[in-house]
Amino acid sequence: MTTTTNPWIENLPVYEPGRPIEDLARALGFDYHEIIKVASNENELGPSPKAIAAMHAAAREMHRYPDGACHSLKTKLAARLDLGPNNLAFGAGSNELIELLGHIYLSPRAGMVVSEGAFAVYRLVAALFNAPATIAPMKHFGHDPDALLAALTPETRLLIICNPNNPTGTTLAPETLDRLLDATPPHILAVLDEAYQEYLPPPLRPDLLRHIRAGRENLLLLRTFSKIHGLAGLRIGYAIGHEKVIAALNRVRQPFNVSAMAAAAAAAALDDDEHLARTRRANDEGHRYFADQLPRLAGGLDYVPSHANFLLVKTGRGREVFDALQRRKIIVRPMDGYNLPDWIRITIGTPEQNRAIIAALREILTR
Ligand SMILES: Cc1ncc(COP(=O)(O)O)c(C=O)c1O
Repeated sequence: MTTTTNPWIENLPVYEPGRPIEDLARALGFDYHEIIKVASNENELGPSPKAIAAMHAAAREMHRYPDGACHSLKTKLAARLDLGPNNLAFGAGSNELIELLGHIYLSPRAGMVVSEGAFAVYRLVAALFNAPATIAPMKHFGHDPDALLAALTPETRLLIICNPNNPTGTTLAPETLDRLLDATPPHILAVLDEAYQEYLPPPLRPDLLRHIRAGRENLLLLRTFSKIHGLAGLRIGYAIGHEKVIAALNRVRQPFNVSAMAAAAAAAALDDDEHLARTRRANDEGHRYFADQLPRLAGGLDYVPSHANFLLVKTGRGREVFDALQRRKIIVRPMDGYNLPDWIRITIGTPEQNRAIIAALREILTR
């Protein structure tokens, strides 16, 4: 006897994450601490020291189940955002929230519209629910609002917009985003994935919270503590939306989906403006360094100007370059999964890491 799976699960594509440091260390016999991982858009400065202190304090209470409602974190975050606690829901990373949206909105007759080069998890979640995903072409590596609107069908329930987008780093101007949201029919939930929004310079940071404050029902913002806050290992993200949508998320989530450690660290991270400022400065400096160096490599490497903490770089033969970098103890992300076989994605690191990456690329590409 064999077990019978749901037929659409048989061929479900599996997400290829950034290669874990331990995995490369084991495979090639490297010391863990010598390896530079710039493959998952993590914060190379590490977690906020305030979050680390909060985790130490929380460790003593780990025999308790968490407060499933994340009450303290929710109250604090709601006050910061000038919203009500009923406008916020938490997940084990924003990835979990994306899956929860599948439970609420997707079915074989109810699907999503998503850009060709948008964060891959969205399409995987559509496949998980055996739901149609209509793929809209992009323009200059960015979302094309007209193509997204043209792709909407009567079956569409979710319109996915990653701003900035991963893996391209592109951003829609706030006015363009507003036009796109204005043209979104009320029965379609626009999901604005803002995993990297804290990296945007203020003029490019859209004020989407005003729509939520005004009671707009068909807009949901997804944010995370994994990126600028440096807490990817803890798994905590949040959704900001109308209380009806938030109530639905709370109905479909597991009772203790966010760990007490994660909620405590996230609450402390919110107080660490210094860590955020330091991270933004390091990121800006890193972007300036790559912008200076990439044109000097191998006759000039093309890259997509980015407003996030990573850069999509055209090296040619991305998978081979990924392998060659690993032999030099550097893990980047190959992009063939995004149909960009000539590109790699590099997370901006510390100045020392950035220099090591450029030196390794110089060596590989001029051989
Ligand atoms: C655009 C985007 N959304 C969501 C996520 C998921 O982040 P997490 O589940 O760690 O919150 C990522 C992670 O790379 C991302 O790039």
